Amino acid sequence: MEIMFLILTSIISFLFLFHGFDLYRKRRLPPGPMGLPFIGNLLEIGPKPHESLAKLSQKHGPLITIKLGSITTVVASTPDAAREILLSNDVACSGRPVPNAVTALKHHDKAVLWIPPNETWQTIRKVLKMYLTSQHKLDTLQHVREDVLEDVLISLRESGSKKAAVDIGSMAFAVSLNQFSKTFCSRNMTSYEDDDIRGFQAVVETAMEVQGKFNIADIFPVLRPLDPQNVWRRAKAAFVWLEEKIEDFVNERIKHRDSELPRFDDVLDSLLDYSQHNEADFSVKHIKTLLVDVLVAGTDTIASATTWTMSELLLNPHIFSRVREEINQIVKEVGKIEEAKTLHLPYLQAVIKETMRLHAGSPLLAPHITQTQVKIGTYVIPKGTQMLVNVWAMSRDPRYWENPMLFMPERFLKTKVDFKGQHYEFLPFGSGRRKCPGMPLAERMLSLIVASFVYHFDWELPYAREEMDMNDKYGLTLLKATPLVATPKPYPSS
Ligand code: HEM
Repeated sequence: MEIMFLILTSIISFLFLFHGFDLYRKRRLPPGPMGLPFIGNLLEIGPKPHESLAKLSQKHGPLITIKLGSITTVVASTPDAAREILLSNDVACSGRPVPNAVTALKHHDKAVLWIPPNETWQTIRKVLKMYLTSQHKLDTLQHVREDVLEDVLISLRESGSKKAAVDIGSMAFAVSLNQFSKTFCSRNMTSYEDDDIRGFQAVVETAMEVQGKFNIADIFPVLRPLDPQNVWRRAKAAFVWLEEKIEDFVNERIKHRDSELPRFDDVLDSLLDYSQHNEADFSVKHIKTLLVDVLVAGTDTIASATTWTMSELLLNPHIFSRVREEINQIVKEVGKIEEAKTLHLPYLQAVIKETMRLHAGSPLLAPHITQTQVKIGTYVIPKGTQMLVNVWAMSRDPRYWENPMLFMPERFLKTKVDFKGQHYEFLPFGSGRRKCPGMPLAERMLSLIVASFVYHFDWELPYAREEMDMNDKYGLTLLKATPLVATPKPYPSS
């Protein structure tokens, strides 16, 4: 009897244990490094999270879990793992964790980059497409962007005649800022004077940096009132500055519309018209926030991508010459560099893709958060987990790219891989519902700026080519650590 009892209790205990283990196995998060009590893996992340997370993934696997204080974060570092987050579990993973810095925005609950994927978010993305990035709008607003570019070429020629060096990123920043403000409000926002551009650029860079920073006050909310890294205060100063600028533009336009004067019929007029009929979902406050969002999301990224592309071209003069030859063909054909035509220059497009592969604009995308529990394989990821996709690591991984550290635009001539979000080894604009809504516009702006800078100027560096600093600086945008400064010498045939 006693033996029977022993056997029975052993079987029951075994079943309980097995069930418990199985439940644990099924409920567990992906593996990851052991963290320290209280701070978790904070010390392992450091100032270049894209690099340290890539190293941790090599050790622990394609999907890893790290703890940043009390914040559980899952990081994907292979195309399959990214597909699980951005495609298979797109809806569940499309929330955003709102960093403390963003609450410095007066209307952060209206900012398209940070709000949850609710109806307002859908409306804002729809409006962006309707008035800015639909094929029709891209075509009809092309001349505005081309005109702005002509102005900057004049300014560059003047610098060239004085043998004065310019910061190529700042010039691209000024072009994109004025392209946006001309498109939206029919006015330039900056001159091409150094001080004017730098002031604006410093504010936008701060806004991007603080939104992407690993902030101790996010990790330990109790520290928020102290703001130990000065992130919230810097964010506040940057956003207040930007909001005041935008508010002046919008308020002035509202007054203008109440007068008898003729309409501008630009994007701002369209947004105000739309708002009049959809006040609940899209108020004037939404318009002001959207303009700040677009300026911040669209100028710093374009300036940075231009800086990286031009740096690679100046490091590789044979590639520079080949791009120029290709542009020469369209100039012969249509008499100028037409924006839409630059999209059909295979080598230029290969150069832009190759730059984005090596220098991902947003190395970890913008952070996502799970809105419900998510199952990936045998892992169970709870609601409220921060999800990062290390696109920087994937686009430098030798398993998917031959000689990944070499700048070889030719690789994109032989493949159909593009950045539209279907090729998970290459996601500079993200993929799924939160994918960058500005992508088709960014593609055009970047192609036109780079084509014009290459075609119209030879660029003289103030140091030997080999001495160029190609280090990066982490933020929501991965900037070049030092600006690219060179003297534009007008190219004879232009
Ligand atoms: C080279 C240029 C650009 C790059 C590399 C880039 C990249 C990105 C990335 C990686 C994201 C986050 C995707 C995710 O979290 O899954 C994003 C979001 C966003 N981008 Fe861009 N972007 C660029 C240009 C632009 C432009 C020109 C605009 C202007 C319309 C823009 C507007 C936005 C907005 C509003 C979001 C937030 C979308 C949301 O959360 O729903 N971007 N971008």
